[in-house]
Amino acid sequence: MADETITIIDNRTGERSDIPIVNGGIDATSWRKALPDVLFTDPALMSTAACESSVTYLDGGEGILRYRGYPIEQLAEHSTYLEVAYLLLHGELPTAEQNEVWIHDITYHTFIHENVRKRFLEGFHYDAHPMGMLVSAVAALSTFYLDAKDIHDPGSRMKQIVRLIAKMPTLAAAAHRFSVGMPFVYPDNSLSFPANFLSMMWKVAEPRFSTHPVLVRALDVLFILHADHEQNCSTTAMRTVGSAHADPYSACAAAAAALYGPRHGGANEAVIKMLNEIGSLDNVDDYIAGVKQGKGRLQGFGHRVYKSYDPRATIIKHVADQVFAVTGKNPLLDIALKLEEVALSDDYFISRRLYPNVDFYSGLIYQAMGFPIEMFPVLFAIPRTAGWMAHWVELLEQDAKIVRPRQLYVGHDKRDYVPVDQRS
Ligand code: ACO
Repeated sequence: MADETITIIDNRTGERSDIPIVNGGIDATSWRKALPDVLFTDPALMSTAACESSVTYLDGGEGILRYRGYPIEQLAEHSTYLEVAYLLLHGELPTAEQNEVWIHDITYHTFIHENVRKRFLEGFHYDAHPMGMLVSAVAALSTFYLDAKDIHDPGSRMKQIVRLIAKMPTLAAAAHRFSVGMPFVYPDNSLSFPANFLSMMWKVAEPRFSTHPVLVRALDVLFILHADHEQNCSTTAMRTVGSAHADPYSACAAAAAALYGPRHGGANEAVIKMLNEIGSLDNVDDYIAGVKQGKGRLQGFGHRVYKSYDPRATIIKHVADQVFAVTGKNPLLDIALKLEEVALSDDYFISRRLYPNVDFYSGLIYQAMGFPIEMFPVLFAIPRTAGWMAHWVELLEQDAKIVRPRQLYVGHDKRDYVPVDQRS
């Protein structure tokens, strides 16, 4: 077997060091011992494995995504979001009995404390962004569950996880209802996880909300597709805060805050804006030409890790067909399809390996289902909670060290304080 090391020769001194490769990565502890004054410069962590993880496998070159070994395509076809959440958290699919208990536990934790709704959510400015409200409300939950601080007790940990997964849709829908001036709708425990969310979103005066089963299933599939994506920006935020042993609500709020950023959870909104700007099929060629000249980017195209078709985008395209058969076609779909066709046959996009990502079609579906654009990052945060929590448990079980990167200082050398009246 080949020697699992990398040899470094420090050309300043001629010193030679053999650094072990552990699980395919260069062992930084051995590196630090051999070359203590040489740090890696990797600000966006593009070549840094920040942890070992067994939650999600991703091969961006081949377009492969698996949760705990199960291909995303199989989970999207056969599973439910709650079952996938269980899988992410426990490492195995639940037995029928475990599934029943899990669904029951989640369903009976969907209510939020009245103060969260009345004092926090209703205290926001009338035009508050629902994602800002969600981030704040999740952080506020930590003050309601004092046992959340028992992070080393697996029983307490799981209690908080159940609460978070269960209450996320309730908080999300409450934020939306407040932002449009509609009364809060209490959870309906007789409904499935996605159906209950739709009920809390859209119910008006009818005694019991019901909608087309295709839409309920479509939402569940979208939740499955967004449940985890290994070490993305928000998960890294959650791992960083979690590594300081903050409670899970605070760590989850940090992750949601990262997701609020347009570079992460807001790309599908940018896609809708771009399609509206293009406006007609006749303008697609000109728009593509503009992108190639450096006038902006094709939103929903390209990915930091996928250098082939994002497997989630393939599934979402099928979901879009099913949803549009019920809701009627989103008028922006034809522009999106033409844009994809033109881009995928253009050497600019082919040579840079730019393909549609998960956000290219998801916004069209959400829009067809009636969700306002501001709710798009919120719709992402609901299912991603399961992934964040799976990584949180993993890092605690690994007894991970607190995240504390180093820096390359590029500021002033030592200089003496100047009194204010002597400064120029
Ligand atoms: N449209 C046009 N050109 C692009 C695009 C795009 N969407 N994405 C990358 N490129 C080009 C760049 O201009 C660059 O070209 P160059 O080599 O001639 O300079 C080359 O492709 C490589 O681009 P990078 O910026 O180095 O790629 P990176 O991996 O850093 O960026 C990112 C990935 C941010 C996703 C990028 O592709 C992008 O901005 N896409 C549009 C926004 C988007 O859809 N984001 C959603 C990502 S999915 C998610 O977060 C859930």
